[in-house]
Amino acid sequence: MSFPNHRPRRLRTTPAMRRMVAETRVAADQLILPAFVREGLSEPHPISSMPGVVQHTPDTLKRAAAEAVEAGLGGIMLFGIPAERDATGSAGIDPDGVLNRALRDVRAEVGDDLVVMGDVCLDEFTDHGHCGVLDGAGRVDNDATLELYAQMAVAQAEAGAHMLGPSGMMDGQVAVIRQALDAAGHTDTAVIAYAAKYASAFYGPFREAVDSQLTGDRRTYQMDAANRREAILEVELDLEEGADMVMVKPAMSYLDVLADVAAMSPVPVSAYQISGEYAMIEAAAANGWIDRRAAITESVLGIRRAGADTVLTYWAAELAGWLKEGK
Ligand code: PBG
Repeated sequence: MSFPNHRPRRLRTTPAMRRMVAETRVAADQLILPAFVREGLSEPHPISSMPGVVQHTPDTLKRAAAEAVEAGLGGIMLFGIPAERDATGSAGIDPDGVLNRALRDVRAEVGDDLVVMGDVCLDEFTDHGHCGVLDGAGRVDNDATLELYAQMAVAQAEAGAHMLGPSGMMDGQVAVIRQALDAAGHTDTAVIAYAAKYASAFYGPFREAVDSQLTGDRRTYQMDAANRREAILEVELDLEEGADMVMVKPAMSYLDVLADVAAMSPVPVSAYQISGEYAMIEAAAANGWIDRRAAITESVLGIRRAGADTVLTYWAAELAGWLKEGK
């Protein structure tokens, strides 16, 4: 037999051949679009560090949700930016707060054609920018925060969210949210747990997106980038507490963690391609240093290949459009 015996290149000879044998695919309904809505805006406000992403008005958010349905996306994850902030983030619990109103509007717009999700976290609503309330010594008070998450979750379920995303990394957050939802009769409202959420420099642009008031960092509650095994513990705890889905976040610097979680999780696994990941690719593409569409496509494919069933990405709608075009 002539050398080489094996020629894997045969299956790479034509685009049709490559498409046929592709192990991983991306479908629009696996994509979740994160979206921002800001109180008191009359025009959508561009986020300079996330070119192409805006803080929506209630009207433009509704339009974006309708477009997400049109694009065949799986879901939309809403973040609210209130006009007034306080120490306990009370605007996040207020049924008339910006996020709860947006959830109500979007749900009315899309019905059950798109999974409507709300971010359950206080950082957009507190005047100190932390994901929880502070104790007398200025530390984030885990158990006092849980009580507020429970109220926030019920308010979001009441507003019509199908699924809630607790992103604050407080211990016990999934359990208290599940209990509160059930006690209020919202047994069908699902929880997508930000199970393994790391303290990351790549959240930078998100801080602009939500006009974050944070000074310092979130290292006492978000995970340390050095830790891989600990992600399994976080996922196991969230499953015990009743999580319906689990998430790894960020995505591209944590693909090993994502693969580990995908290998052990009995529930669907999600990954969040975050603001800094978006910004890096947009910036490099804007400089002509990489092919924008190819880089976006490859990045999301890589996240899927590592094991994510669903991907939160700011490119969700655009990517879905490309998928429709095919090839
Ligand atoms: C917290 C939250 C953050 C993100 C999603 N939910 C910010 C943080 O943890 O600092 C970041 C998302 C992104 O960077 O795209 N409510």
